[in-house]
Amino acid sequence: MTAPKPADKRSKSKTESFYDSIAEVHNIALRVNGYRASVSKYLRSLDLGLTEESMVLDAGSGTGIITLGLEDSGIPHRGTIALDLSLHSLDIARSEFRRDKKTDDKRIEVVQGNVLELPFEDETFDLVITCGVLEYVSLEAGLAEMARVLRPGAKLVFIPVKPSLVGSMLEFLYKFKIHPIKDVRRISQKYFRIVGNHRFPLNEPISWSKTIFLLERI
Ligand SMILES: C[S@@+](CC[C@H](N)C(=O)[O-])C[C@H]1O[C@@H](n2cnc3c(N)ncnc32)[C@H](O)[C@@H]1O
Repeated sequence: MTAPKPADKRSKSKTESFYDSIAEVHNIALRVNGYRASVSKYLRSLDLGLTEESMVLDAGSGTGIITLGLEDSGIPHRGTIALDLSLHSLDIARSEFRRDKKTDDKRIEVVQGNVLELPFEDETFDLVITCGVLEYVSLEAGLAEMARVLRPGAKLVFIPVKPSLVGSMLEFLYKFKIHPIKDVRRISQKYFRIVGNHRFPLNEPISWSKTIFLLERI
């Protein structure tokens, strides 16, 4: 595993500064809310067609809970790139990957970057997973960029915040904007076939604020 690539000299965006400042607390919340197990179980239920050669992108990885869920799932893949704007979140992710006994941290690369300008060639990835990130950007621009780096026929596991009481509380606390589900469907269909709009089980805390769109790159 490599160290986070430092950003060029530039001013931080508000979102980057915000997540740099809350990364530790956010990480603790994620360790206790069961997201990792929920994501792992959901991924195991899918036929993603991945092999030992497949590359995965966790777009807007934060402190790495989705990447850890993927590791737990046992789904074959060669490696994962965990990309985020927040360097401090990535530092925490890197140490979580290193100390997690079930995780092979050598196959995870941590990269600082923007989901709107992914530093990868077209059609690089066999799977992209993104959870709670596109609420910070234009949905159109974010989905177009994820489609660009996915191979045709490959899947995007898109886990947006859904309109809900808990979603609205998180929207206020975490300073993002929930995209209406009708926009998610309409814009997704420009670049993807909607394979399913799945739900996490109601007894899992992730279900209180998130829904899942399983999308296939056209
Ligand atoms: C609510 S957290 C979700 C983190 C992680 N996906 C999870 O489920 O725990 C949102 C993350 O999106 C990142 N983020 C927001 N805008 C971004 C952008 N334009 N490019 C990359 N990351 C971004 C933030 O830095 C933060 O880590």
